[in-house]
Amino acid sequence: METTIDSWWALFLIAAKCGASSPLNLLHSLSLLLLLLCLPTLLLHWAHPGGPAWGKRTHCSPPIPGPRGLPLIGSMGLMVGLAHRKLAHAANTLRTRRLMAFSLGDTRVIVTSHPDVAREVLNRSAFADRPIKETAYGLMFHRAIGFAPSGAYWRTLRSIAATHLFSPRQISGSEAWRLEIAADMVTALGRGGFRVREVLKRASLNNIMGSVFGKKYELFAEDKEAREVQGLVEEGYELLGKLNWSDHLPFLAGLDLQGIRFRCSQLVPRVNRFVNRIIDEHRNRTGEKKTGDFVDVLLSLQGHDKLSDGDMVAVLWEMIFRGTDTVAVLIEWVLARIILHPRVQMKVQAELDLAVGRSRSVAESDVARLPYTRALIKETLRMHPPGPLLSWARLAISDTWVDGWHVPKGTTAMVNMWAIARDPHVWVRPEEFEPERFLSEGGGDVDFSIFGSDLRLAPFGSGRRSCPGKALAMATVGFWVATLLHEYTWRSSDEAPVDLTEVLRLSCEMASPLTVTVCPRRGL
Ligand code: HEM
Repeated sequence: METTIDSWWALFLIAAKCGASSPLNLLHSLSLLLLLLCLPTLLLHWAHPGGPAWGKRTHCSPPIPGPRGLPLIGSMGLMVGLAHRKLAHAANTLRTRRLMAFSLGDTRVIVTSHPDVAREVLNRSAFADRPIKETAYGLMFHRAIGFAPSGAYWRTLRSIAATHLFSPRQISGSEAWRLEIAADMVTALGRGGFRVREVLKRASLNNIMGSVFGKKYELFAEDKEAREVQGLVEEGYELLGKLNWSDHLPFLAGLDLQGIRFRCSQLVPRVNRFVNRIIDEHRNRTGEKKTGDFVDVLLSLQGHDKLSDGDMVAVLWEMIFRGTDTVAVLIEWVLARIILHPRVQMKVQAELDLAVGRSRSVAESDVARLPYTRALIKETLRMHPPGPLLSWARLAISDTWVDGWHVPKGTTAMVNMWAIARDPHVWVRPEEFEPERFLSEGGGDVDFSIFGSDLRLAPFGSGRRSCPGKALAMATVGFWVATLLHEYTWRSSDEAPVDLTEVLRLSCEMASPLTVTVCPRRGL
């Protein structure tokens, strides 16, 4: 303490000696002196491979290679815009595809674009947590599965969701919802005049509201409640997808320069009101009116599993939030690809004609007999993974080693799945759209799981924190894609040809929403 006071006095005296006559001058001189004193340290930190955040810690192990970026802020620029492409470019240029270090302000980050190293990151218990993100906390996700620290609470939530929402029995139990929504979509699209994305987002929202809340909205009736929840999800997406400077530059934390904290504080009471209203409706229902949806399940939990109302709101909100966008984003990419590749569209439809026939609509059980359609979805996930950096990063909860490099506790770890899926060392002709790569010579499936066991393509992540909604997502996407292609032939609209430009928010979407014309195939 004395030393600090002594140093301040020393600074003060030097400043006074330097001719600071008035208090204002004195303040200026002091700031200048402080800057001069800090400059060598700043430069020293910055000169370290990986940039300032890596330079700040003392260690003796060899440094992980990576870009320095700028003093103080490091490589923040890499995370602005299409981060997956920028990171891939940096890793290729610096030859650090296996492992690259960089700094986001004070945050130490590693990123891998290699399947073997990705496996180490995603499957090791040392990376079982998520890095702290102010918006995730602000929006209550630390009380839900996605951002809860790994431990008893997180395990309980995952096991409740696995048993009551994502089990094969629950997924097939909600087939009737998906069927009804698919029929609504077919009708809506046939009428024309909609952007596909609007139809898909509303359909995904209805789907998740059905299985989680037991609520059915009309696909295109003006429904106040449906509009309200859609608005909440969109605002949440916008906030969680933003790069928040104060997550990485602690000296900005008090300022909320981007207004993110303020917007979260406005959103959360609206979410609480909305979800609590539905919970109350469920509580007040008696006997036969219960539908056995996820809210009923959460309300029936007893003992250790019982959740407080606040936790329940967070869990339910997360399900709406995660379940709505990803599925719609993926289907839009699938449709864009079949329009761009008429050959692929014709092959899917030939398969549908053979397996289903034009006399009836597709049933969910048909999808098991549609290997080419499933290959189309896998190929779309390869070229357009909705989470190219696997959506949410991981955090090293202890000092550990990755690919032979020492990674200190507190480091954020990312996997660039987009870069892996386009790597010519991993995939033959990676820039070509070829669903056939997932088929055997005889036309059946090749044995390739996209659920996390093969890191050459793991769009749902891998390991303990991999996506718990993956089976539900694939059941929905498979069935809806098959239905949409069975009912209609798809072409781009004359005014707007398909444009594959991406925009990365929380998911990686088409920057120009797809506009289409459809032509009925089954004589509707
Ligand atoms: C095409 C659709 C989807 C994709 C591509 C996707 C992708 C992902 C990815 C990459 C992760 C991070 C995995 C990791 O860290 O290893 C994740 C986590 C998660 N996803 Fe999905 N997801 C999809 C659909 C869904 C659906 C439909 C739900 C729920 C209704 C859901 C709920 C979650 C949750 C709760 C987590 C956090 C898991 C945890 O931290 O333990 N996802 N998802």
